[in-house]
Amino acid sequence: MHFYQNIDGFFIGVYQEDLQKLPVHPIVKKYFSAAMHDYVQKKMISTKEKTVTVLPTLHVQEIQYFYFVGLGSKKKCTRELLKESFAVAVKASQAYQARQLVVDMQSFSKHGATLEETATDLGEAFERSAYRFSGYQTTEKSQIKSPYTIDFYVGTDSLNQATVRTGFRFGRILGNGQNSARTLVNMPSNYLTVDTFCQYCKDLAKAYDLRIQIYSRTECEEMGMGAFLAVNQGSSIPAQLVVLEYQGLDEWKNPIAFIGKSVIFDTGGYSLKSSAGMLSMKTDMGGGAAVLGAMEIIGKLKPKANVLAVLPVTDNVVNSYAYKPDDVITSMSGKTIEITNTDAEGRLTLCDAITFAKKQGATELIDVATLTGAMMIALGKTVTGMMTNNLAFLARFQKAAESATECVWHMPIFEEHRNSILSSKIADMVNTQLGNRYGGGLAAGAFLEQFAGDTPWIHLDIAGPSTTKGTALDPAGGTGVMARSLAYYVLLLSQAQSSDEKNIVKAQ
Ligand code: BES
Ligand code: ZN
Ligand code: ZN
Repeated sequence: MHFYQNIDGFFIGVYQEDLQKLPVHPIVKKYFSAAMHDYVQKKMISTKEKTVTVLPTLHVQEIQYFYFVGLGSKKKCTRELLKESFAVAVKASQAYQARQLVVDMQSFSKHGATLEETATDLGEAFERSAYRFSGYQTTEKSQIKSPYTIDFYVGTDSLNQATVRTGFRFGRILGNGQNSARTLVNMPSNYLTVDTFCQYCKDLAKAYDLRIQIYSRTECEEMGMGAFLAVNQGSSIPAQLVVLEYQGLDEWKNPIAFIGKSVIFDTGGYSLKSSAGMLSMKTDMGGGAAVLGAMEIIGKLKPKANVLAVLPVTDNVVNSYAYKPDDVITSMSGKTIEITNTDAEGRLTLCDAITFAKKQGATELIDVATLTGAMMIALGKTVTGMMTNNLAFLARFQKAAESATECVWHMPIFEEHRNSILSSKIADMVNTQLGNRYGGGLAAGAFLEQFAGDTPWIHLDIAGPSTTKGTALDPAGGTGVMARSLAYYVLLLSQAQSSDEKNIVKAQ
């Protein structure tokens, strides 16, 4: 520890089972020696999960405060609970204006997770809980304080050092990617405009060596994107289609496509939202933000896979040119759509993006969208609803979501939902089921399914979990949900690819 100076937060994980061992922990012993036996005996240190006990060393040492992080029972502590508990401690350290933190990794390790995984979880939880949207306040309290530094302690074992360093770095990259998505969601639509959104994409592409092409409204028109552009018709700000490519394989073939709803602001159009319903609609680009967060993570980690990101960017506002209920529009696929509600705009932007991705050769499609209030009613504020036309693909994605500890739930599409979408008397389909709000999330899935066709497709409705009232891990506002799950999906693909390569070598 001699190379550390002025540490104002040293974090030690305390499982119920390990409390008695605390006095012999080498660092604790150095600073507290006999006192610690007394503290443990008097139960002054809480082992309850999501609690923290802060003990000062009275500023006479290089470590100024210990944060004992309650983790509950070792057997019951899930990866998510570990992240939440650590987040509570990080928040406490923020309240005490701690700037230099060190984490004792070994004390957090538990059954069912490797030390590397634990390091990943702590790295991710640190970035997520320390996140602040700096916002636009001009008063002192909103000014960003000097940045944190965080390091880890694993004793002198060099093998552990390397493992923990890798895991911790990976976790911080995951957390940072999610945080970037959050910032986009938190920005109001007069700051995050179609243009600034596109500029952000360009900067991202430059930073991580992604190919980027941005199609103008005119170019989208030439490609026949009648559904996407119908949404943009009432806006004096032209829509743009952002296409990013990450190439991790030698050849550009079989990319997986991530398609993100990127509605800069959703007024509902002529099917106007209520004042209360419209408030927060700056977050209607949460799907696009998740895709961009994932691309950042992928760009940093360089997995062996090809990824195509497609983001149809527009607002949904009105002027005298705006599309109206009863209009019939022609999508890029050639299918005609009768507009029954201009507030069901997300699926119109996505259906053309799906067709575009297929034309670009995508062999798997995942769309992410703040699509329906109905899904939020069905699953609540923390669960992402998933729909698919391919159960094997869904099972693979579920593994990724599990690795990311993001909550997902499979929702169905039945014949009745397809029938209601295909019930138009004058066009191939309607954009919302008529006279029936029930199961609206499923009808939206049935609509998109028509465009995915036979290509394996997953739809992720994040209307609920895209924002939060705030927890220790996720401060109030945008959550950046699904950025990590999408990234994990690609990382798992890459791992499968690498082990395939190894098998081929073995077989030769
Ligand atoms: N952007 C909304 C969905 C939404 C609602 C997201 C609340 C986040 C929070 C979407 O464009 C929409 O308005 N959907 C309609 C669909 C309806 C017209 C079939 C809805 O959910 O009411
Ligand atoms: Zn809408
Ligand atoms: Zn919307």
